[in-house]
Amino acid sequence: MLWSELSSQPNNSLRLAVIGDPIAHSKSPVMHNAALAALGIVGEYIPLHVSRQDLGQAISRMKELGFRGINVTIPHKVDVMAYVDRLDESAAMIGAVNTIVNENGYLTGYNTDGIGYVRSLKDETHVSLRGKSIMVLGAGGAARGIVHALAQEEPKTIVIANRTEDKAVQLAEEWNSMGNIYGIAIDKSTSFLTGMDIVINTTSIGMHPHMDQSAIDPECIPTGIIVSDLIYNPLTTELLKRSHERGCTIHGGLGMFVNQGAYALEYWTGMPAPIDKMRQAVLQSLQN
Ligand code: ATR
Repeated sequence: MLWSELSSQPNNSLRLAVIGDPIAHSKSPVMHNAALAALGIVGEYIPLHVSRQDLGQAISRMKELGFRGINVTIPHKVDVMAYVDRLDESAAMIGAVNTIVNENGYLTGYNTDGIGYVRSLKDETHVSLRGKSIMVLGAGGAARGIVHALAQEEPKTIVIANRTEDKAVQLAEEWNSMGNIYGIAIDKSTSFLTGMDIVINTTSIGMHPHMDQSAIDPECIPTGIIVSDLIYNPLTTELLKRSHERGCTIHGGLGMFVNQGAYALEYWTGMPAPIDKMRQAVLQSLQN
């Protein structure tokens, strides 16, 4: 649906949306509508196509129409910061917003990607991150959210390995007050991998349709550690498949997607999110 086609609805209905360009592929509506149904909340979560030049107008219109919550996806996560009244501290540090809460016309921007990821990693692998050595592959927007959330867990070290070394070094320097964070070139990652407890891929390498690729050679990953990938299409990337064969515990990106949505829903409704129902809805939709 186009944002310009929005009209008013009865007051007692919870209005939620995800805005992006493109937006048709988004699994958020199917996930959140399943959650609303499970919680018995009268409301609707809709996908809205919003182009870059319309972003400000679309946000004002949704505010006017009483939307309680908005998820923000590519390409608006950075630009949308200009249109909220307040940024939550983590969204300000990460420099991106994926969730907006509308409190009677006052908009607060949050970033639930990083905390959603860490919640999923801990829930699904039962790992405690405190004192662990972690390598993050990639230094883009997704990596920023992840590194920020990981740093809150007091790991021993975070090594950011990126194709463009400068970006990794810059990100590490920006946040070195939060812990031992280093930036390196990804092609020098092999020697650092020995001694890592967890490796996390935040790049798009291995995503559908280039499913045979992986950001680093899986043969270089120490056996038995935790290997995690933010990608959820495919559910098990080449990196994860090969790591599993090496006796590693693997963790895919579906849980991050579900948990970033769960945090957003909890901000909007104040109720615990029905995570299992949300996960089931996304899995079913991916299989169709
Ligand atoms: P996102 O917001 O999804 O993180 P991004 O900001 O464009 O997207 O960042 C993509 C990340 O994947 C970057 O770290 C990028 O490396 P560069 O900083 O060197 O560009 C990494 N990446 C993407 N494609 C890659 C490839 N083919 N080989 C190595 N790294 C790649």
